[in-house]
Amino acid sequence: MTMKMNDYIEIVDKKLDEYMTIQYPEDIFKAMKYTVTLPGKRLRPVMCLESCRVFGGNYEDAIPTACAIEMLHAQTLIHDDLPCMDNDDFRRGKPTNHKVFGEANAVLAGDALLTFAPQIILKNSKHLGSEKLIKIMEEYFQAAGAYGVIAGQVVDIESEKTNTPHPSFGHPLPQGARAVTLDFIHTHKTADLFKLSLRTGAIIADAAEAQLEGITEFGQTLGVAFQIADDILDEISTFEEMGKTLGKDKNAGKLTYTSLYGLDESKNKLACLLNDCYDIMKKFDVKSEVFDEIISGIKKRVGI
Ligand code: IPE
Ligand code: IPE
Ligand code: MG
Ligand code: MG
Ligand code: MG
Repeated sequence: MTMKMNDYIEIVDKKLDEYMTIQYPEDIFKAMKYTVTLPGKRLRPVMCLESCRVFGGNYEDAIPTACAIEMLHAQTLIHDDLPCMDNDDFRRGKPTNHKVFGEANAVLAGDALLTFAPQIILKNSKHLGSEKLIKIMEEYFQAAGAYGVIAGQVVDIESEKTNTPHPSFGHPLPQGARAVTLDFIHTHKTADLFKLSLRTGAIIADAAEAQLEGITEFGQTLGVAFQIADDILDEISTFEEMGKTLGKDKNAGKLTYTSLYGLDESKNKLACLLNDCYDIMKKFDVKSEVFDEIISGIKKRVGI
């Protein structure tokens, strides 16, 4: 049975609400649920469910994992917005977690989500068996920790200092070195959760090794493309469209695609990567209207 993007989103939203009951101490559960249940695009859980379906699995088996990945994503957003990180006041069209619950509870809500998410998988996916569960846990911790998102975030924050040109000597690092660093940042802060979503869906579906490799290549390419689009949109979009304050990367002096290559070249690179995504799907015989819709959604938002 083919599924539409909105069918998946409806399922994910309902389950997220169900998994996240408010208990004592209410402050922490409310803070956790606040950011998770605000209206995000739900791309990562959708990719997880669709990847499972595409490789012949029952997408329902992937629901706890898909929801857990959205919780992990929300954790990265809560911490990314903190005053010590990107210092943002709005997320998903509403005040950021620390603006509503205070910094201490926002830090704790992020920590709590990071650990709550794998518990949701373990509690609700017992029928997958221990072998698959161990594989899913390995994927989760690889992507969530110091080998994954955290690595990307650390180098992203560092770049605010190293990317600033000297008034008379220009950039301290040559363009080539900055390009390598930028690729590292985008791979880890963003593509790692894309790959986590797609790979866990595929693992639940018992995909073959070659299929896993294909979907990993797809996730890497789409994830980097998605972050390039986010860099571009930070310059050209609106608060209404994005639900967050824009123009902040430039002010912070961050290393982004637009700061390194400029707007036009970034759009060209983005278009190339999105074409690569279609090619990878063809090469690995992955047919998915949902993946097509995610790709065309990025193109439409950026206007390419
Ligand atoms: C925001 O991700 C963080 C980035 C990787 C750019 P999304 O743009 O997927 O955010 P939501 O989930 O729709 O809010
Ligand atoms: C997103 O990078 C990466 C993570 C949240 C892990 P950004 O800092 O560019 O994301 P936005 O623009 O705040 O959503
Ligand atoms: Mg950031
Ligand atoms: Mg940010
Ligand atoms: Mg951004």
